[in-house]
Amino acid sequence: MIRVKKVSKRFSSIQALDRVSLQVNRQDIFGLIGPDGAGKTTLMRIICGLMPPDEGQVWIMDQAPGEIDRQNLGYMPQRFSLYPDLSVRENIEFFGSLYSLSRKVIRSRAEEILEITGLSPFTGRLAGSLSGGMKQKLALTCALITRPALLVLDEPTYGVDPQSRQDFWRILYQLNHQGMTIMVSTPYMDEAELCTRVAFINQGHILACDTPQNLKAPFSQRVLEVRIPSQDPRLFDNLEEVEDASFFGYKYRLVVRDGTRGQKAVQSYLAARGLAGVIEPVSPAMEDLFVIMTGRDD
Ligand SMILES: Nc1ncnc2c1ncn2[C@@H]1O[C@H](COP(=O)(O)OP(=O)(O)OP(=O)(O)O)[C@@H](O)[C@H]1O
Ligand SMILES: [Mg+2]
Repeated sequence: MIRVKKVSKRFSSIQALDRVSLQVNRQDIFGLIGPDGAGKTTLMRIICGLMPPDEGQVWIMDQAPGEIDRQNLGYMPQRFSLYPDLSVRENIEFFGSLYSLSRKVIRSRAEEILEITGLSPFTGRLAGSLSGGMKQKLALTCALITRPALLVLDEPTYGVDPQSRQDFWRILYQLNHQGMTIMVSTPYMDEAELCTRVAFINQGHILACDTPQNLKAPFSQRVLEVRIPSQDPRLFDNLEEVEDASFFGYKYRLVVRDGTRGQKAVQSYLAARGLAGVIEPVSPAMEDLFVIMTGRDD
């Protein structure tokens, strides 16, 4: 569906993308996961043909981005500007008219999408007075008006409350189930778990690209949960074997360089400090993988 080959983009001194290659298959929910400034928006803009790459190529449905039928591609930018003084329905109608869709087609599609996104009761409300989550759903509705085969969403759930985030993902699953291919960027690692395939991006580089399951497999023994009577969040800061430590008040979650060696090192480290407790390997979460791949940053 999307093929990106060795795409680079530079903004003066910043290398926003450095020879990025990836492939999005038909009916993927493909997650582009990375922190602020990783290059997500730049890559999505290039994919959608809104900006040329310095080098490299992009194909969407076997065509260059500038050549594809715009109706096949739905794009929801990171900062979508809805018209705050137009109602929900008026925003949708305006958006549909940009694609020269007839009023009748817009109306019937809008009904259908409003139903899916749960906005039907609010069609008369001004966009400016919607909650953050509802604004995002309206932006999605507008991006869906052409019934695109491919939907590209740039951080659609950023800053949205947990319930609305869940609703949003339920909608994405439903659309995907109907055959839509979705590429979505997010800084939230828990959302990476919801994707069928994931690319981790950091500082313009793709660190890994695979299914969540395959990405986790090599790291199955490298995450340890430690329950000990200590409240010191920096307890493991100086232990060489530990790549990252998170403190949750009643437990620690450690990413170690090697499962067996790490477990032993933690054991003797705690024993030397007179701390006894439970150390057990747990399955890695996406967040752990990202930490492992980016390495310890101190
Ligand atoms: N038009 C531009 N001019 C100059 N620098 C830019 C421009 N667009 C992006 N950058 C820089 O390129 C890098 C990648 O930016 P990009 O917006 O693609 O990241 P992102 O992953 O979308 O980040 P965020 O999560 O904050 O949206 C950043 O360092 C950013 O400051
Ligand atoms: Mg961005």
